[in-house]
Amino acid sequence: MMKYRLLALLSAAAIMLAGCGSSDSSSSADANKPSDGTGTSAVTEASEAVTEAAPAEDSSYTRSKSFVETKDYPSLKELYKDRFLIGCAISTKVMNSPEYTQLAVEQFNSYTAENEMKPERVLDQQTAMSDPGKYNEHVPVTYDSIRTCLEYAQAHGFAVRGHTLVWHSQTPEWFFYKNFDKNQGNVDRETMLKRMENYIKDVLEWTNENYPGLIYAWDVVNEAASDSKGMRKESKWYEVVGEDFVEKAFEYARKYAAKDVKLFYNDYNAYQARKQKDIISFLKPIAEAGNLDGVGMQSHIGLYLHPNSFMSAVREYVEELGDIEIQITELDIGKDKSDNWEEKQKELYKGFFEGLMELQDDGIKITSVTIWGLTDDMSWRKGENALMFNRDLSRKPAFDGVVEAITGSGDSEEEAA
Ligand code: XIL
Repeated sequence: MMKYRLLALLSAAAIMLAGCGSSDSSSSADANKPSDGTGTSAVTEASEAVTEAAPAEDSSYTRSKSFVETKDYPSLKELYKDRFLIGCAISTKVMNSPEYTQLAVEQFNSYTAENEMKPERVLDQQTAMSDPGKYNEHVPVTYDSIRTCLEYAQAHGFAVRGHTLVWHSQTPEWFFYKNFDKNQGNVDRETMLKRMENYIKDVLEWTNENYPGLIYAWDVVNEAASDSKGMRKESKWYEVVGEDFVEKAFEYARKYAAKDVKLFYNDYNAYQARKQKDIISFLKPIAEAGNLDGVGMQSHIGLYLHPNSFMSAVREYVEELGDIEIQITELDIGKDKSDNWEEKQKELYKGFFEGLMELQDDGIKITSVTIWGLTDDMSWRKGENALMFNRDLSRKPAFDGVVEAITGSGDSEEEAA
């Protein structure tokens, strides 16, 4: 057992060295590339250890060795390579685990940080509080968390979706207060706009200078629409800046983003008729100003959904907003109470991917599809078994559904063998 633990630690260290070694914010994008230049050396290192290593983090759980031996399934990123990028939301738990990393690298070619690139991980409260007057309009940021993500993504050959710049959630409240102090109330709109502009500028410029070409899209604004009507009112951005905060965010993002970085608006339930209407109405002027490249449809859905209604909504965005891209940014499909939920889930995953490819065949630009997490036990939707892999890293029928959608096969196991 000790030997296994040691191996796990050593392989984790290999990942850290290959992927996260830099602590210099000005390091060039190539500084930590594996020496063979393929971006795979850490993975190879990891996969060697996988056959022997026990799970390093979860001592209450012993994973069966057989998961490695039976892991002979096809690679989604290969199958879909002529269609769209196929991504996964990756957490630190995955980044720190050689075996999770191995699975993610085998299957996916796009990476979204599940939490580590959100404003709460980037805004630097300590420095801000050290001299609130000095930092009033230009709030300090720290790039450690983003850097760890981008080093990992680069070392393992992932393209990156940047998630997210302007959001009511996972953004600290102190960011919106006079002198960063709750007791002093909100800052005025003009100051908040300066803070917004500087935040967007800093993050876009730093990522582009240090990792040019790695991030292909940013969720500039996340979840600005209300679940009931119009714009979400319970948002500090809405409260302090007002209705046009979305427009301003895109204006700044366009000003500072590199040419090849696509600017996205991202939301959940973005396929629901009423919410879609509201989203379109506030995105229209932004699209007309040339500041919107795409809509991210999160797609946290359930077995109730019919793919056709979702696909019609995709068409609607393109009809209303012009020549934009659509990305499925956070797909997961929760189970229901029926006994055959796993079969139904497989069919919906399959139908969903088939629908997306039909849209593509009609000329709609579906450029990336991301699943929001790797294994069911790690999903943010606890107990809903919404993803494609089991805790032991074996594939679920849902995975076969996604394979069958593109191979046209009714029996992916035969195909995979
Ligand atoms: C979720 C993460 O998965 C959780 O780990 C975290 O606790 C909360 O945020 N919409 C988004 C994502 O845009 O960033 C959210 O991610 C899920 C909903």
